[in-house]
Amino acid sequence: MSERIYTDYLIIGSGVAGLRAAIELGKKGRVLVVTKDLPTESSTEYAQGGVAVALSDEDEIGVHFEDTIKAGDGLCNEKSVKILVSEGPERIIELINWGAEFDKEGSKLAFTLEAAHSRKRVLHAHGDSTGREIERVLINKVSTLEKVKKASFTMAVDLIFEEGRCVGALLLKDKDIIECFSKATILATGGAGQIYSRTTNPKVCTGDGMAMAFRIGAYLKDMEFVQFHPTALFASGVPAFLLSEAMRGEGALLRNIYGEEFMKNYHPLKELAPRDVVSRSIISEMVRTNSSYVYLDMTHLDENFLRNRFPTIYSTCLKFNFDITKRPIPVSPAAHFIMGGVETDIDGKTNIEGLFAAGEVACTGVHGANRLASNSLLEGLVYGYRAAKGAIEYVEDLRINNTFHRYNLENHKKSLELYELGKMKEELRQTMWEKVGVIRCGKSLNEAKDKIIPLYERLVDGFYNDPLAIELKNMVTVGLLITYSALERKNSVGAHYRTDFKEKLPGWEKHLRVIKKDNWFEII
Ligand code: FAD
Ligand code: SIN
Repeated sequence: MSERIYTDYLIIGSGVAGLRAAIELGKKGRVLVVTKDLPTESSTEYAQGGVAVALSDEDEIGVHFEDTIKAGDGLCNEKSVKILVSEGPERIIELINWGAEFDKEGSKLAFTLEAAHSRKRVLHAHGDSTGREIERVLINKVSTLEKVKKASFTMAVDLIFEEGRCVGALLLKDKDIIECFSKATILATGGAGQIYSRTTNPKVCTGDGMAMAFRIGAYLKDMEFVQFHPTALFASGVPAFLLSEAMRGEGALLRNIYGEEFMKNYHPLKELAPRDVVSRSIISEMVRTNSSYVYLDMTHLDENFLRNRFPTIYSTCLKFNFDITKRPIPVSPAAHFIMGGVETDIDGKTNIEGLFAAGEVACTGVHGANRLASNSLLEGLVYGYRAAKGAIEYVEDLRINNTFHRYNLENHKKSLELYELGKMKEELRQTMWEKVGVIRCGKSLNEAKDKIIPLYERLVDGFYNDPLAIELKNMVTVGLLITYSALERKNSVGAHYRTDFKEKLPGWEKHLRVIKKDNWFEII
């Protein structure tokens, strides 16, 4: 018989969104934060460039709003964006008061430029370790809160759905299932970059939250919009380590394999054109020059400046035998961020009672079809806080006592051989990269669908107590939903680019939602 535990609030994920929510919820009731790896293992921990916030003397909230809307290419939810940019400064000042040390120039905060920002508004810490600093401060703050308990290496497997409500989650710890019942549950599981063979995302980003929410009938929205970062390290046997956009903000240049600067041929903003434009330009240049990469060149910048401004990037590249101060670095695009996710309102509420979502797993509409660089750490802070407020209000109004069924999972358990699991995973990741990547078309998407459907059918009914098998099931689910949404959107908007529908054709403003139906789903 599995163990049962009870809490007021269950938070799944310990990145910026989950931790920020925990700080608010810890004032109101018992909170359990579960995370499937080390507490710090998250995209947040690896975030480099910084956090965008209109706090400099030269900036205005209205300009941050306009830049975000423009990057979103017509599909942002204006109300959500207004909240992001206007509540952002308060969330950042609070973080500074809790001990966050952002870089300064003299006594003033230092702001840098990134693509598609019309002002210098990106705060950074220790040069290029902004996420680590934010994670450090939030973890410290959470550990001062008596009512917040943390459980690492504890994976949410499925949400518990009873009598029309989400009442907790089944957790996996050391191969044992724990039934965790909560009055409200907040998904803060981050993104899904691992479904692509080339990604900047850490191993934990397998789309678990999106797949779990989908399985209990939550709406997933804008799933076709995946952002590809233009500049990830490209070399054989080396991970797609991110080379921050802030490097281009500080003057780094893109060159093709013949050493030619090429961005001027693609966009007037050159290296600082919107991220999707730069990624597509790089791909075009790679095809034109018959190469698998282009170069990011910083060698004209001062050596000491580079070492001090980008210490983590400098030392990591050096570990792989690339000295950024001495020679151009081979780079190519990699899957980086998903704009879509579990649809929420501005208070993190989903269409499932008792279920809230915040951060990259959620789709509040702040990013539209393409995220403005460095807006997601801010999103985690602003919407993590708001989702917590939403959950508190929900629990205070809750009049029903939960009645819980026992879960007998023994008869449903399935297992997968490690070899088979690895093979399926590689097939999914390669297919997503080759056919549902930076540039798509009906033919490639149909081919992807034909490869992913058998994987989905094979995995969908299984209940696994092996984290890798659970992740694979979730990855295949999310991959399938992205592919179908991309097929359904017959136009090119933001990060979704189809060679067979290159323009914004009539109807492009419509958002696509996916919802589970019987053993399949429908897109509405
Ligand atoms: P995450 O920080 O990814 O946290 C998700 C958490 O959920 C993790 O703790 C994970 O272990 C846990 N989890 C997942 N599934 C389960 C499960 N089934 N059970 C239990 N726990 C689970 N954005 C910016 O704004 N500025 C930047 O400079 C920037 N740089 C980036 C650099 C890199 C290399 C990457 C990958 C992303 C970057 N981003 C940046 C994007 C940004 O970091 C993320 O979008 C953001 O941190 C997401 O925060 P989150 O809290 O939603 O998710
Ligand atoms: C980067 O540093 O280039 C990443 C910024 C982001 O993804 O917002």
